[in-house]
Amino acid sequence: MSARLTDRVVQLMRAMSVEEKIGQLNMLTAGLVTTGPGDPANYLEALKAGRLGSLFNLFGRKQVRDVQRIAVEETRLGIPLIFGYDIIHGHRTIFPIPLGEAAAFDAALWERTARIAALEGAAEGLNLTFAPMLDVSRDPRWGRIAESAGEDSWLTSLFAKAKVKGFQGDDVKSPLSLAATAKHLAAYGAAMAGRDYAEVEISERALHEVYLPPFEASVKAGVAALMPAFTDMDSIPLTAHVAILRDIVRRQWGFEGVIISDYNAIAELIAHGIAADLTEAATLALKAGVDIDMMGHAYVQGLPKALQSGAVTMDLIDQAVGRVLMLKEQLGLFDDPYRDAAANFDHKARRVEYRDAALDAARRSIVLLTNRNNVLPIRQAPRRVAILGPLANAQAEMLGPWSGAGLIEDMVPFLPGLRAAWPQSEILHTAGVDIEGGDLDGIAAAVDMARRADLTILCLGEQRFMSGEAGSRGRPDLPGHQAELAKAVLDVGKPVIVLLSSGRPLAVTDLIERADAVLATWFLGSEAGHAVADVVTGLWNPSAKLPVSWPVDVGQIPVFYAHRPSGRPKLSDFRYESKYLDLPNEPLFPFGHGLSYTRFTYSGFSASPSELRPGNKVTLDVTVSNEGEVAGEETALFFMRDPVASVSRPVLELKGLAKLTLAPGQSQTVTVVLTTADMMFPGQDFASKLEAGEFLFFVGSSAREETLLKASVRLVR
Ligand code: GLC
Repeated sequence: MSARLTDRVVQLMRAMSVEEKIGQLNMLTAGLVTTGPGDPANYLEALKAGRLGSLFNLFGRKQVRDVQRIAVEETRLGIPLIFGYDIIHGHRTIFPIPLGEAAAFDAALWERTARIAALEGAAEGLNLTFAPMLDVSRDPRWGRIAESAGEDSWLTSLFAKAKVKGFQGDDVKSPLSLAATAKHLAAYGAAMAGRDYAEVEISERALHEVYLPPFEASVKAGVAALMPAFTDMDSIPLTAHVAILRDIVRRQWGFEGVIISDYNAIAELIAHGIAADLTEAATLALKAGVDIDMMGHAYVQGLPKALQSGAVTMDLIDQAVGRVLMLKEQLGLFDDPYRDAAANFDHKARRVEYRDAALDAARRSIVLLTNRNNVLPIRQAPRRVAILGPLANAQAEMLGPWSGAGLIEDMVPFLPGLRAAWPQSEILHTAGVDIEGGDLDGIAAAVDMARRADLTILCLGEQRFMSGEAGSRGRPDLPGHQAELAKAVLDVGKPVIVLLSSGRPLAVTDLIERADAVLATWFLGSEAGHAVADVVTGLWNPSAKLPVSWPVDVGQIPVFYAHRPSGRPKLSDFRYESKYLDLPNEPLFPFGHGLSYTRFTYSGFSASPSELRPGNKVTLDVTVSNEGEVAGEETALFFMRDPVASVSRPVLELKGLAKLTLAPGQSQTVTVVLTTADMMFPGQDFASKLEAGEFLFFVGSSAREETLLKASVRLVR
């Protein structure tokens, strides 16, 4: 996004009063949905008085048009509004939550679903979304892990590029595009103890190595806006963090787009204890480079005083106003404030296409965690099947925690999806228990059905708002009395397949070890029931992989694959090694884990040339074979390790992936080409550094080290 001002913007700014300029920095909620504290201000009064530049939480063609008409026709300068909304995983057509969609390891899919979301959002008057969320998340207690692409910085960077392209299209000026907002800059996912909004204590190295790269990737992809996190970093709230927002984001990365505060975050600098009042809060945020005050009322109330006292200059205000007006220019709003082409876009003709995309995304997000004795797929429809549990017919839960404008009635839950797949089967159903609370009275009926059935599908997990914002759980296990239901049904002794709906990995090891098969189904959106049925019946061979490590127990958290080796790595049973006395070090399932109905093997891995110099490429080749009876999709993951460097490096780092579709018996050689730039890391001063020496490369299906093939190259100066 370029911020060199157009003549129109220059002229406009010359005509604007100070109050009108500050008004352009003010964003208010229209209150159609609630996404934060405080009552929706009377935004129409602010608009007519020239104190409003953008509005969020309002959608609907007519509703938006009516307000935009006031902005264009009833204000002194007729400056059009930006209309924003949280379109995180779909607008009307709902796709899997981002953590689920990340499991597809498929950038083309991520772009496609964002594109559809943009079309549907633009059709309802929106021109900006507060997405993608790019917070690397390694703590399943944190509810917002649901909105993330998981634990890996490289995968989240790939996700960033795909989502920005999907939302913004080839030109954000198109009425069929939305300006994307990469959020929440940065390290929000490291909130202390997984508790939302809590302090963040990470090293500057982790900031540079893990948490910033996805945001830099979004800036390189041309993202229109950034949103700082609510949290602090090294005791400085991101909303006032000059070193990150100005020095790194604007100066080093050259970001010229708009920085939008999170909801009331500028005013919350007071609660953080770095501002005494709104004037000081507004001063700190503006100096840090925050352009738009979302629902903080700090700029409108505080900047006039700050200007008067000399705490801020008119030039600083003008810089922010210029960026906001240039975003409106880049969105084409001055020439086409109503973006009618978006409304006239024939969505009805596309509904089938959108639902097909939702089905495809949902299928590709389902992770087959276990499949004992290949109990899945159920190729022959069972005579009598019990579909039990509080998530079996949970239509609302399929929306997930950030469901955009999705309608509950549009969701297909598991029960109807499975009924449609097995029309001749006798289906027994009861929830047995509530998702949380309730009592044990319904368990007997559930057990009776399990006894009478040939097979039980047990649908367990979370309510959708047990994750997402403010959805942290200190004990991320089965809520309510679900564990009692599971035990009673498993005690019947017949085959039990568990469908686990959640916004995070759940610490439910006993359940997973007792069930015959377990599918991680996250919250799958509009086509949840059909996607699950396609996987259970084998119509779709599951291909998804975990984008986050799955803990044995909450006591392991944070547990992730790209950890450093420690001076006493666990190598044996010797006491003085890095381990627990009562838990394993390894997660229950590693990053990248995901079973298939077929079996893939890897062979012939090579890295060439064996010796390379700075600027050279390194070519990684591997042959993947389908050794099973059915076709399937595999994603080969390519990792790297720098075993000796000037700083301790992670034991593995994901550096590439290759997707293959293989028929039974088919083999294919895939190649990933890296450059020495991929072998760099932040040096002592956090500038990218390339060091000579040996580099190890690995390839395999997951980050389970003992399963990986290895090759090495030597970098010489
Ligand atoms: C919320 C969230 C942010 C969202 C914003 C607007 O508090 O933190 O992700 O985009 O407010 O709804």
